[in-house]
Amino acid sequence: MEALITLLPGDGIGPEVTKSAQQVLESVASTYGHRFQFDSQRIGGAAIDAVGEPLPAATIASCKSADAVFLGAVGGPKWSDPNAKVRPEQGLLALRAALGVYANLRPVKIYPELVGASPLRPEILAGVDMIVVRELTGGIYFGTKTRDEHSASDLCTYTVVEIERIVRVAAKLAADRSGRLCSVDKANVLETSRLWRSVTNRLMAAEFPGIEVETLLVDAAAMHLLSRPAAFDVIVTENMFGDILTDEASMLAGSLGMLPSASLGDSSTGLYEPIHGSAPDIAGKGIANPCASIASTALLLRYSLGLEAEALAVERAIAETITAGARTADIATHDDSRVSTAQMTAEILGNIRRGPVT
Ligand code: IPM
Ligand code: MG
Repeated sequence: MEALITLLPGDGIGPEVTKSAQQVLESVASTYGHRFQFDSQRIGGAAIDAVGEPLPAATIASCKSADAVFLGAVGGPKWSDPNAKVRPEQGLLALRAALGVYANLRPVKIYPELVGASPLRPEILAGVDMIVVRELTGGIYFGTKTRDEHSASDLCTYTVVEIERIVRVAAKLAADRSGRLCSVDKANVLETSRLWRSVTNRLMAAEFPGIEVETLLVDAAAMHLLSRPAAFDVIVTENMFGDILTDEASMLAGSLGMLPSASLGDSSTGLYEPIHGSAPDIAGKGIANPCASIASTALLLRYSLGLEAEALAVERAIAETITAGARTADIATHDDSRVSTAQMTAEILGNIRRGPVT
């Protein structure tokens, strides 16, 4: 097939992991006989430095005409002054809104060989396999903001339609998995959460009566993620809770450098990004873990291009590379030798090129 893919390297380690993602997509194209064309565009701090705004019109135009968008990371200390007028993160939020990608899928998968990289005990990690469905274009991230010298405010709003559509995405995933859905809110305090809970319960009873629904308050969910992570299958939650809980959940997998994400809307153009940030402390050193980005390309192949066999081949190649012992610094334990971003990527590419399993 032919596909147009926009690449948004962004800031910090973003360009390094985007390079790995592009190499993987190129290798999939040549191994499986596809033609992928890439268009690299600016976003975040890199765009602020070049043209004064974090999401230039040319970037939006390229993303909108693409079949899929891959993003590295945005942000960094250079643009973090709390009094700055423009911020890199505004570019990412505006892009999510412009593409209408309200459903952010964050699978949390554990590679058995990486259990030692997690701060949790192995017996707690046994059997962990979950997916967090984070609402991505609403809530406190997008509400009106105010600030003067005395006070500041961020408005959190959710509409029934916004809640219904994200719960449907999560319920469909649950139907294909364990048949269980856990909805996370803060309904003992927040009005938006009380609406979230009542809409979720009504919709699930009416449209998905066969799915078992559990409801958890976000503070309890944060604890249960560490005490009984294997009990979770599909979690659905609002924007900010999903942001926080998935950084926490990454520790189950051993590193923030392991978790991919897919942001989907009603059109097939999805946005794919590792859940990690720009990691300014290691940027430019060539040691970032490319696994989250490469696993995000698998999601791109699956959800935007409909190439399931190719997606599985990429996921298998990551797993084989980890089984073979390759470790970037973030997932290395005492005795492991550490490989660079380029070496880890090269090993994964080698495993992809061995071609389809017959
Ligand atoms: C993420 C990131 C972003 C978010 C930041 C960079 C705006 O933390 O994708 O999880 O908060 O959504
Ligand atoms: Mg985050």
